[in-house]
Amino acid sequence: MRTHYCGLIGERQLGERVSLCGWADARRDHGGVVFIDLRDHEGIVQIVADPDNADIFAIASKVGYEDCLRVTGIVRLRSNVNDKIPTGRYEVLAESIELLNPARNLPFALHEHPNEDLRMTYRYLDLRRPAMQKMLRTRIRLVHAIRQWLDARGFQDIETPILTKATPEGARDYLVPSRVHPGQFYALPQSPQLFKQILMMAGFDRYYQIARCFRDEDLRADRQPEFTQLDMEFAFVTERDVQDTVEALIRYVFKEVIDVELPDPFPRMTYEEAMRRYGSDKPDLRFDMELVDIADAVSRIEFKVFAEPANDPDGRVAALCVPGGAELSRKQLDDLAVYAAKFGAKGLAWMKVEDAAKGREGVNSPVGKFLDDATLEKILQLTRAQTGDLLLFGAGKWKAVCDFMGALRLKIARDRGLVGEGWKPLWVTDFPMFEYDGSERRFVALHHPFTAPKVDDVDDLRANAATAVSRGYDMVLNGSEIGGGSIRIHRPEMQSAVFELLGIGAEEAQTKFGFLLKALTLGAPPHGGIAFGIDRIAALMAGTESIRDVIAFPKTTSAQDLMTDAPSAVPDTQLKELHVAVVQGAGSMEQG
Ligand code: AMO
Ligand code: AMP
Repeated sequence: MRTHYCGLIGERQLGERVSLCGWADARRDHGGVVFIDLRDHEGIVQIVADPDNADIFAIASKVGYEDCLRVTGIVRLRSNVNDKIPTGRYEVLAESIELLNPARNLPFALHEHPNEDLRMTYRYLDLRRPAMQKMLRTRIRLVHAIRQWLDARGFQDIETPILTKATPEGARDYLVPSRVHPGQFYALPQSPQLFKQILMMAGFDRYYQIARCFRDEDLRADRQPEFTQLDMEFAFVTERDVQDTVEALIRYVFKEVIDVELPDPFPRMTYEEAMRRYGSDKPDLRFDMELVDIADAVSRIEFKVFAEPANDPDGRVAALCVPGGAELSRKQLDDLAVYAAKFGAKGLAWMKVEDAAKGREGVNSPVGKFLDDATLEKILQLTRAQTGDLLLFGAGKWKAVCDFMGALRLKIARDRGLVGEGWKPLWVTDFPMFEYDGSERRFVALHHPFTAPKVDDVDDLRANAATAVSRGYDMVLNGSEIGGGSIRIHRPEMQSAVFELLGIGAEEAQTKFGFLLKALTLGAPPHGGIAFGIDRIAALMAGTESIRDVIAFPKTTSAQDLMTDAPSAVPDTQLKELHVAVVQGAGSMEQG
């Protein structure tokens, strides 16, 4: 149908007859001449319909936005050069224009910024936009570069099942009812975790897969119910072997896809340090603004809000110094407190440093009266607050203070334009093995239940579970967790002990993970691995906040596909076949 792509017309086609196909991006009627911008996936070229050719001119005059066209004509130099597009020096004088398919009643113009629901409903129109095409192509190049690198190094690409058994990664499962086994269900994989471990036990040594994962969890800009991982596993490795290899891979793909040189090696930070300095296990290192511990300064004062957590071994009192923040209004400070409350803050004390040299006289703070001169002085000293700065104080349980102060740090940096340019990767290591879930009164795995603890001894782990450190690691880039992995448990006694600590009894462990426990008794090699979020890496590379922009057909934040209208009801006959009954009137289920 065509001889060339619109966006690639250039010097070499001058004087040639070409046939192009694409969409009418714009039409301009200028003093009897009609210009059409014809767009395909490579770009745009100008088509000219001359009034001398009455038939063509009549067709061109009626072309509408997004009509699908085939145009044949002669390439010539353009009289009014357009420097903004690569083909801007050329145009095609039309000899024929074929309307392949008109676009009737466009729901939105591609140059507008329609709302997200409209974009998702008409995703094919949305994806026609050059900006969207560019972002998706970044993803395509990313996946290509990954495969190239891994294939050259002997990694083996192996597919694992989609219809499978629950693989716990901390989310709810998507279930698929079985027709032939009434009352039984497959689960879609939250990740290929157990299969890749089994592959190591099967002797494949180095595995990778660009794997689709399914997790029924609350959605955000960086979370989709189905998403894609670069999943990897290695036999006979330590954490350093895995980290060094994948660090090289990530450096390669960033250079290859967006020509960015990431540092070599990536800096490393323990979980404890990341939480202490940045209030986050995925710190954004593009700006400083670190949390400062002031417990020592406030442990002996009367003000209980500070003194109690300062004396609680599980408490924290931290300050955040916002450069120039004294200019914030009362309303803005109140808004920050409301924001912090969403992350667990019970209050947010603040202090405006109006003149750092004047001590008490120079500060303005609702909690100033609770702080004696020496304490105040000490706080100013510890935080190195300067005239014009704002101090925010968080007090409470250690984890809660980290969480809300870390969230404030990010929000304030974004709001005040403090986030620097560039790329700041790091490894976060030494995660706690378990987190205590107060409501369920049991430990939950911080990574997943197959992650090895640092200690080799089962009794040691049992005795010190609350403080046990895991052999897990995350790769973080610009405040986004782009990958996570660990060295795995490869001995059955340790795996059983971890299940037990997680409240998974022996019987339940057999039912759910009997195959794994068995495989661990049959010569399982030490192994470990990692999985990267392809969507997140692609979004970072494409410079977009939302992974929806780098997924061709994403779900909305309420897990719907508005184009196909999924999920949707199914006929009763189909339900019956699947032995499924729908409970009517249950209302919409809460997200969790
Ligand atoms: P984890 O759960 O940390 O580890 O996932 C690995 C990476 O996958 C990405 N990711 C997501 N991306 C988009 N939407 C989601 N809902 C989502 N959830 C996770 C993140 C994350 O770092 N089996 C282990 C890996 C291992 O131990 O090897 C796992 O899945 O970028
Ligand atoms: P209250 O004694 O609760 O009225 O609080 C006095 C001041 O301390 C107010 O400015 C509160 O915002 C602040 N505050 C209360 N709880 C906390 C907390 N957990 N962390 C930081 N500041 C707090």
